[in-house]
Amino acid sequence: MNRLIDIHDFRNIVFFTGAGMSAESGVPTYRGKGGLWKEYRWEEYACRKAFLRNPEKVLRFHEERRRAVYDCLPHVGHRLMADLRDCVVITQNIDGMHQRAGSREVVELHGSLWRVRCPSCGFKKEQVAPQYGSYRCACGSWLRPDIVWFEDMLDESVVDKALKRLSECDLLISIGTSGSVWPAAGFPIRARENGAYCIEINPEPIRGSIYDRVIAEPAGSALAKLFGFSTPGG
Ligand code: OAD
Ligand code: ZN
Repeated sequence: MNRLIDIHDFRNIVFFTGAGMSAESGVPTYRGKGGLWKEYRWEEYACRKAFLRNPEKVLRFHEERRRAVYDCLPHVGHRLMADLRDCVVITQNIDGMHQRAGSREVVELHGSLWRVRCPSCGFKKEQVAPQYGSYRCACGSWLRPDIVWFEDMLDESVVDKALKRLSECDLLISIGTSGSVWPAAGFPIRARENGAYCIEINPEPIRGSIYDRVIAEPAGSALAKLFGFSTPGG
């Protein structure tokens, strides 16, 4: 069903975003062509076991990710979302792009590339910078990126917040996610079960999709159209 909708008719909008949302800002996705996990094995860089084995290697990898993302800028899609009042962004992205665009409520399911925490004393530090100040905490332990890695549990309070927003929304717009990482992949289903109208934006949509409407286009142009703006050539 591809009925036309006016985004301004909805009261509670949730945007659910994945790596494809940042692709047009120049941030690589994880899977598919040019995906990060094609070049790097997550078992060596993005799990607690890897960090315990070789903290310096894991920190260097994440510092490299910081450098790559630092110069990237939010695109038109991020800005349109930020300009919309009373909406919520639930994101799997760790790049902070929604916040940089000015979105007010951003629920970061997988943590942030810009934050570190100390597994020993609980110290946390947030700093948007291409480098980590230090790999070590003042207490002597290695600092770890405050990211939900493979095999980690999601933060319960963050999940509760996301589920509350999903239960309240009347429109859910999922953008640029392959739907392969759980439990996040199941979140749009919650909105659907609660009666929200659900839209997927993805040039390569998920198979067996639960969505009412699928827009098989890149995030920027699809969002511009949804918001009633046309883009050159679109
Ligand atoms: P993936 O890399 O798995 O999927 C990216 C999706 O974006 C694919 O379905 C692409 O078709 C789509 N895509 C590509 N370019 C796009 C564009 N311009 N506009 C819209 N969509 C586009 O990324 P995620 O689903 O976000 O975990 O991956 C989920 C999690 O796996 C990530 O949060 C990450 C990773 O391991 C952490 O960072 C902790
Ligand atoms: Zn410490």
